[in-house]
Amino acid sequence: GQGSLVPVPMERTVVLITGCSSGIGLGLAVRLASDASRRFKVYATMRNLAQKERLLECVRGCHASTLEILQLDVTDPLSLAAAAQRVQERRVDVLVCNAGVGLMGPLEICSYQAMKTVFDVNVFGTIGTIQTFLPGMKRRKAGKIIISSSVGALQGVPFNAVYCASKFAVEGLCESLAVVLQQFNVHVTLIECGPLNTSFLANLQSTDAEGSALQVLDSQTRALYSQYLQHCQSLFRDAAQDTEEVLQVFLEAIHSPCPPLRCFPTQFFMPLTRLKLASPDGSEYIRAMHKFVFAATEAPSNQADTSESNPAVREQGTGLE
Ligand SMILES: NC(=O)c1ccc[n+]([C@@H]2O[C@H](COP(=O)([O-])OP(=O)(O)OC[C@H]3O[C@@H](n4cnc5c(N)ncnc54)[C@H](OP(=O)(O)O)[C@@H]3O)[C@@H](O)[C@H]2O)c1
Repeated sequence: GQGSLVPVPMERTVVLITGCSSGIGLGLAVRLASDASRRFKVYATMRNLAQKERLLECVRGCHASTLEILQLDVTDPLSLAAAAQRVQERRVDVLVCNAGVGLMGPLEICSYQAMKTVFDVNVFGTIGTIQTFLPGMKRRKAGKIIISSSVGALQGVPFNAVYCASKFAVEGLCESLAVVLQQFNVHVTLIECGPLNTSFLANLQSTDAEGSALQVLDSQTRALYSQYLQHCQSLFRDAAQDTEEVLQVFLEAIHSPCPPLRCFPTQFFMPLTRLKLASPDGSEYIRAMHKFVFAATEAPSNQADTSESNPAVREQGTGLE
C-alpha cells in the first residue's frame, strides 16, 4: 500500500540520521519513514551508498515522499556540508547522531590507527554533525539532538577502554551543550543503550586480538581477556535487547515535547551505574564490575562450563539488584 490516501501533512518533522546502513540507524529510519501519519521526512544517511539496498528493501519502495537517502561520512567535513545542502526543507528538526564504531581488546595492542578511527567517528564525527545543524536549530529556537550513546559512556568496561573513552567524551560534550541549549529550546538526549543485537560486534575496529599481537601480552592479561570474551558472549546472548525495543525509546524521545538528557532503554546496568554516585571514589564500582565480569569465569578449571551461558548474567543480572 502506498498509503496515498493519507495526505502529506503541511509541516513535517524533518529527521536526519547518521549511520543508516545497519542496526539502530537503519531501524529508526524505517520506523519513521513508515509512520502511518506520514508526518516525518527522513534523511537516512550513510557513508557508503553502495550499502543502501538493505534499507531500501526494508521500506520496500513505498516511501518516496518520506525517505531520502544521502551520502554522509561523519569524519568528512565536505561530506557533512554536502548532505546539509541536500536537505530540501532547509532545516532539520531532529538530528540523530548514531554513527559509531567499537574497539575491543587489551589497550597495549590497540593500534594507533584503530584508536584514531574510533575517536574520529564517535567523537569528532558527532561534534562535526552537531556543529553542522546547530546554528539552524538555535536560529529557529527549536530542535532535538538525539545521540546513540551507551552504558559504556557512563561507566568503564574492561577491555573497552578506548571505546568507553570516546563515549565518555560525547557525554561531556552533550551535558555541557544541554546547559546552554535549554535557552534555545533545543533538547539534547543521550540514549544509553546496553548490548544490542545489531552488527555492532561484527563491525568492531580490529585490534588483531586473534592474531599475533595477543602473543606479546603477559599471560595474566591474556587470561583475563579470554574470560572477558566469554562474559561478553554470555551477556550478548542473555541480556542483549532487540533493536525494536530500543527504537521505542528513540521514538519516545522524538515524540516528547521535552525529552530528558538521558534515557535508559534497559535497567539491567542501573545498579552498577548508581555505584558511581554512591561511591564517588570509584572503589565500589571497580570491585563490582570486576565481580560482574570475571567472577563467574574466575578459575581456569571453570572454563569448560562457560560455553554455557554465564550464570552470573543469567541468574543474578549484575549481581547488585
Ligand atoms: N550494538 C550495541 O550493543 C550498542 C550498545 C551501545 C551503544 N551502541 C551505539 O549505537 C550506535 C549504532 O550502532 P549499532 O549497534 O546500530 O551498530 P552498527 O550496525 O555497526 O551501526 C553503526 C553504523 O555507524 C556507521 N558508521 C561507521 N563509521 C561511520 C562514518 N565515518 N560515517 C558515517 N557512518 C559511519 C556504520 O556504517 P558502515 O556500515 O558504513 O560501517 C553503521 O551504519 C553506535 O554509536 C554504537 O556505539 C551500540
